[in-house]
Amino acid sequence: MNDAIYPTPASFDIELKLFLEAIYLKYEYDFRQYAHSSLKRRVTAAMTRFGCATITQLQELVMHDALAFPQLLDFLTVQVSEMFRDPTYFRTVRESVVPVLRTYPSLKVWVAGCSQGEEAYSFAILLREEGLLDRTLIYATDINGTALRSAETGVYDIARLPTFTENHRLSGAKGSLSDYYTAGYGRAVLDSSLRQHIVFSDHSLATDAVFAEVQLISCRNVLIYFDRQLQDRALGLFHEALSHKGFLGLGSKETIRFSALAAQFQPINERERVYRKVGL
Ligand SMILES: C[S@@+](CC[C@H](N)C(=O)[O-])C[C@H]1O[C@@H](n2cnc3c(N)ncnc32)[C@H](O)[C@@H]1O
Repeated sequence: MNDAIYPTPASFDIELKLFLEAIYLKYEYDFRQYAHSSLKRRVTAAMTRFGCATITQLQELVMHDALAFPQLLDFLTVQVSEMFRDPTYFRTVRESVVPVLRTYPSLKVWVAGCSQGEEAYSFAILLREEGLLDRTLIYATDINGTALRSAETGVYDIARLPTFTENHRLSGAKGSLSDYYTAGYGRAVLDSSLRQHIVFSDHSLATDAVFAEVQLISCRNVLIYFDRQLQDRALGLFHEALSHKGFLGLGSKETIRFSALAAQFQPINERERVYRKVGL
């Protein structure tokens, strides 16, 4: 934040508020209830990237140049992900969730905030290893259209594969990750038979409604960017979408302890924040 232009945090905050309102009114993307401090950092980075000295200048640009909006979205959302990220989470799913999923004739899984598809493909591989993929449909949703289009290709830079491979191994893998991709020209192309079980689509936890009944939801490293009220909205959607005693995995970086909906989910693994729906 430039002290000459924004002598007090309040002056920055006023323009930020107007900026988020303008984005919502024009593009229907709602960042108004995102956690303030990280959003501030990301808007400041966008100002630098677009060469704008003030948020108002950035607003002017984005209001009159629709092509600038997808680029702005890349600044406002954080796309960091890995296949089998935090492998102990996937190990918990294998050990504590899969045995119950096995008892269902068909399965629907929702990966909310899927970024470029790493988490959705990880679930597809895990479920194939556990013999469940053939009866599963995975919905993978995000608000970033560029990330979703990349996810649909199932192509990753080969430089990322050593991390993905090690994560996969630590998740309790039943085979080699290389069984699921073809490498060449610096890229790894995931097996299209995984892709056939995944529907990628645009869905916002801030503005959209529930679209299916599912047995498992995984939403990791997404709620941390929301304020408490928006977290509660998302948790409400998850509760509504889950079938009776369905599973919710939030990962170790999130907590629902202070949420108004905490009592609606019973923890089955405190460390990995894996829960089961309570009630109807
Ligand atoms: C850090 S990534 C997490 C990716 C993956 N779940 C993981 O843990 O590796 C956060 C993702 O949440 C998405 N996101 C942000 N706001 C969202 C919203 N309102 N609804 C759905 N997805 C959102 C971002 O676009 C981004 O792809």
